[in-house]
Amino acid sequence: MEQTTTVQAQAPSPATSPATAVIYSRHHPFPSELIRHERLTGPGSLKDTRHFVLNLGGSGLTYTPGDSLGAFGGNSPALVEELLSLLGFDGDEPVTTANGKQTALQDALRRDYIVNRANRKILGGLAERMPQGEARNRLMEIVDNGDLLCEYIETRDYVDILREFPQVRFESPAAFLAQLSPVTPRLYSIASSCQAHPGEVHLCVAVVRYDTHGRQKKGLASGFLADHAGMFVKSVPVYVQPSRTFRLPADGSRDIILCGPGAGIAPFRAFLEQRLLEGATGRNWLFFGEQHRATDFLYGEEFLDYQRRGLLYRLDLAFSRDQAHKVYVQHRMLENAKELWTWLQAGAYFYVCGDAKHMAKDVHQALIDLARTEGGLSVEAAAQYVNVTLMRTEKRYLRDVY
Ligand SMILES: Cc1cc2nc3c(=O)[nH]c(=O)nc-3n(C[C@H](O)[C@H](O)[C@H](O)COP(=O)(O)OP(=O)(O)OC[C@H]3O[C@@H](n4cnc5c(N)ncnc54)[C@H](O)[C@@H]3O)c2cc1C
Ligand SMILES: NC(=O)c1ccc[n+]([C@@H]2O[C@H](COP(=O)([O-])OP(=O)(O)OC[C@H]3O[C@@H](n4cnc5c(N)ncnc54)[C@H](OP(=O)(O)O)[C@@H]3O)[C@@H](O)[C@H]2O)c1
Repeated sequence: MEQTTTVQAQAPSPATSPATAVIYSRHHPFPSELIRHERLTGPGSLKDTRHFVLNLGGSGLTYTPGDSLGAFGGNSPALVEELLSLLGFDGDEPVTTANGKQTALQDALRRDYIVNRANRKILGGLAERMPQGEARNRLMEIVDNGDLLCEYIETRDYVDILREFPQVRFESPAAFLAQLSPVTPRLYSIASSCQAHPGEVHLCVAVVRYDTHGRQKKGLASGFLADHAGMFVKSVPVYVQPSRTFRLPADGSRDIILCGPGAGIAPFRAFLEQRLLEGATGRNWLFFGEQHRATDFLYGEEFLDYQRRGLLYRLDLAFSRDQAHKVYVQHRMLENAKELWTWLQAGAYFYVCGDAKHMAKDVHQALIDLARTEGGLSVEAAAQYVNVTLMRTEKRYLRDVY
């Protein structure tokens, strides 16, 4: 499954009446509550990766390992307050959101619009309201230059921009809201087996946190789950996004190879729980990678226990920053090229999940490299084997990358 998060949903109107046969969806999400929240990365880690358990009780929602959960986040109350003070509104003003909901301005800014990052549109809106002068000329220079505009908004939110251009006054809350983008859901690979945890869904989330222009920023959904979703409060609207292709083999006797560094481990926790529950006889081989073993071995105890109990036939770990040179999952794959090739030749499935930009490309190349070195194939034949035979014809190379 290779999906994007750029789904064009309008702000959700969470459903509240599961008594009737409601089918929850992106446009009609279920208001789930956070019932467990643990930090997976330890003190001293550069990462903030968390395990969240959401209650789906009463929703009728079910899922299969390989599916994702769509979740709506929200902006930090402190960010909204700062924005209101720059705008000169008190927040109680009644507004109508993009999807027709009547609410107070501060609630709309918290839950219905993207406020943690600026969009392109805002600068045009600012320019229209800016008095002539040096500041307006500076703004127009950015508006008129596509590259400059992209670069400008990439690292800024509305607070950064309004601080830089304090001359601008929006005539009404509605005029400001009209410049914003409605909130969209984020997808998270489900990290649990529904049968092992009835009525629950587990997520493994790498929380987005960064500093730009002297201010701390956070991800809309990951930051909301980590910092603002109260425990035991129906505050997280969710729906299940089924996968068409990212599935365990129907035949439990097939061997599987799982490659999931970082938060990419999520669906493989679900796969392993499911294989254990079903008593699948095929062997399971997991490649996991993160920065440091001491602080970033996500679900380490669980996987070591699976290894001790024989559910994990092999567990190969790549802690990239525990030595002078980088060690990544694809290096572990190549160190074990002979065995990996033997598994693939015997019909094993190969799964990869996580970073699409770098990791998945390098893992893909490692598969081609080992088809060449171990299978004795030419460069072209090795690429054909991976891209066509494994991926398309036999559908045993499956990806959930983002
Ligand atoms: C099918 C699928 C499955 C997924 N599964 C998982 C999963 O299991 N676990 C997981 O953690 N994620 C997963 N993701 C990613 C997830 O959907 C979100 O994209 C992620 O959590 C970020 O969303 P957010 O709302 O927290 O951040 P957003 O508010 O969307 O902010 C993220 C944006 O912030 C900006 N940004 C980030 N860092 C910086 C920086 N240093 N400087 C400037 N700008 C920056 C970038 O523009 C980035 O796109 C998955 C995605 C897909 C498509
Ligand atoms: N769309 C978003 O806004 C968003 C938000 C959060 C996360 N994500 C993505 O979610 C994924 C998981 O993030 P994460 O923080 O859990 O883990 P991650 O960034 O993928 O890092 C996990 C491990 O992979 C290593 N790595 C880096 N480059 C690699 C490569 N080319 N090949 C193989 N391994 C490589 C890292 O090493 P080093 O760090 O030592 O290089 C680290 O040890 C990433 O794609 C991340 O970009 C996206």
